Amino acid sequence: MPKPKVLVTRVIAQSALLKLSQALEVEVWDKKSPPPYDFLLDKIAGLDGILTLLTDPLNKDLISKASSRLKVISQMAVGFDNIDIKTATALKIPVGHTPGVLTETTADFTFAMILAASRRVAEGDRQVRQGIWEPWGPDILTGQEVFGSTLGIIGFGRIGQAVAQRARGFKMKILYYDKIRQPKLEAELGVVFAEMDQLLNQSDFITLHTNLSAETLHFINQETFNKMKSTAILINTSRGGVIDSLALIEALQKGKIRAAALDVYEVEPIPQDNPLLKMENVIITPHIASASIQTRERMALMAAENLLAGVRGEKIPYCANPEVYQ
Ligand code: GLV
Repeated sequence: MPKPKVLVTRVIAQSALLKLSQALEVEVWDKKSPPPYDFLLDKIAGLDGILTLLTDPLNKDLISKASSRLKVISQMAVGFDNIDIKTATALKIPVGHTPGVLTETTADFTFAMILAASRRVAEGDRQVRQGIWEPWGPDILTGQEVFGSTLGIIGFGRIGQAVAQRARGFKMKILYYDKIRQPKLEAELGVVFAEMDQLLNQSDFITLHTNLSAETLHFINQETFNKMKSTAILINTSRGGVIDSLALIEALQKGKIRAAALDVYEVEPIPQDNPLLKMENVIITPHIASASIQTRERMALMAAENLLAGVRGEKIPYCANPEVYQ
């Protein structure tokens, strides 16, 4: 019997590729950039499974081109907004993802962003490299205090909670907003539920940890910026679309907030002419919040596990659309 055929859309951890190649016929897209859309369109009908990254647009047209052979889409990421889940579900294709294994790594990075933006780390680094070292002075590169300040967490799932745990060490007052209130966690983590308006106008730092959906698209917009403190610092390690980027640019230009630290953008890679790139009070990183060596291997192994189970017709362990099994 021929082995099931799968496509892996980038080189992932060798340990995961090895597991896959022992059981499957594996084609790996081995370039640094994602495979072109036409390449995926061309391949999809001949596949039993596909392992994707968040840069692969698995839209309705593409998924509809799959044949009945396609048993699983396994995404190596916790977020899966690049995949048209509705279409996959209608076709009874389970979609896997990698929740949990990147929680602490992403929370670490979020905290790195809080500290770097408040204490102007990137700005100082840039100045020194440009040959600007102003003599030590009382107001040289002074920033915002983190210890004891107020942190507003929007989206209180796994990552939001892990950020709260770190904030406790900095004796921060922690507010959170989520659709679902979690009284048990409030006591456990010493956090306080706040309505959005209260969170926006009390927080020194606002950090976003929601997924991207029709509901959260542009959740942070002109109206919400108007409610923030003019000294607020906004951190986004979730998805770019959660912030209306034009409203963000305006808020920074008009001094409605003090600074932003961004790992994700509405368009990735961020276009070189984006005004954010010229702002000293903005930290820009290239979507690397989960990028630790250990976590990326764990994500790859988890995605491989989902892919293997899927092509074998078994229930995939980490499923984003469990309704396919009902
Ligand atoms: C990264 O952004 C992920 O969703 O895993």
